[in-house]
Amino acid sequence: MRSSAKRAAALFCVLPLIGCSGVQSALDPAGGDASRIYWLTMTMTVGGILIFLSVTSLLLYAIFAPPERRAWLGSRRTIIYGGLAFPIITLSALLPYGLIVMRDSDVPKAGALPIEVIGEQYWWRVRYPADGDRVAFSTANEIIVPVGRPIAVSVTAADVIHSFWIPNFGGKIDMIPGRINRLNFTAERPGIYRGVCAEFCGDQHARMAFDVIALEPAAFETWRTEQAKPAQDPEVPLLARGRELFRAGGCGSCHAVRGTEANGQFGPDLTHVGSRRTIGAGQFPNNIGTLAGWIANTQHIKPGVRMPSYGSLTGEDLRALAGYLESLR
Ligand code: CUA
Repeated sequence: MRSSAKRAAALFCVLPLIGCSGVQSALDPAGGDASRIYWLTMTMTVGGILIFLSVTSLLLYAIFAPPERRAWLGSRRTIIYGGLAFPIITLSALLPYGLIVMRDSDVPKAGALPIEVIGEQYWWRVRYPADGDRVAFSTANEIIVPVGRPIAVSVTAADVIHSFWIPNFGGKIDMIPGRINRLNFTAERPGIYRGVCAEFCGDQHARMAFDVIALEPAAFETWRTEQAKPAQDPEVPLLARGRELFRAGGCGSCHAVRGTEANGQFGPDLTHVGSRRTIGAGQFPNNIGTLAGWIANTQHIKPGVRMPSYGSLTGEDLRALAGYLESLR
């Protein structure tokens, strides 16, 4: 009995700490702006708790202490210093402190890498502008960034209001149709972080996530060069068949695969879909099995998404189609 109580107590103490670290935690800042917001939050929270505790103690003292001992609480001095001077000084100091900490947080830094993110029901379109001889390209549901370089994200939405939030990088910004909002962050250490939609946008709002992958600058440049290239033609017969199914099935009217006749702009660009970590906006690891399952069952897995289920494909066709997509790296 005692050991189970102990275990429960240990769990109770450890659980909040688990919540503080990890790939989706505002309490584990991974960038400069996020650290500033973190310390501002901590200062405000701890300060608020201390003031709350002192006021509560004084209140209890005023209620329960013997009259002669609590008399000083009603004195003129206490009221002037505790009731007027203290709040005026504290609040006057906190306001400039907050303004100074958050200054310039909405101004893009010099040399920042611009990235556009568009929220759609229920996925993220991510655009990288042209750079040198590399063409502009679109990807989906993952944002790859170089470590150490400021990122200037501009966000909007294609249908309803979404909200763009990467807890580890601080800040959160609404994505509003017809309007462009901006958010800046810098990843200070390589890693994979998770972003989510933070505004209810429909049935599948909870299944609208994305990855932010921070790479060393050289690895990022390699990735960007690869992504700017058109898709390679499959050489294996099975994959060539997949490509033919993709064409004949009309997939190209919604999806683009650069380098082929598929140029639909409605759904995610699939030119390098095989290189992405997940599919379905952060729902499954990306492999032939999950791709095949997704194509056949979209409306079962994520009811309400714009892509219909292609349940009539035979197992062999599905394998070929999923294999072709997986080969687009
Ligand atoms: Cu998009 Cu919630």
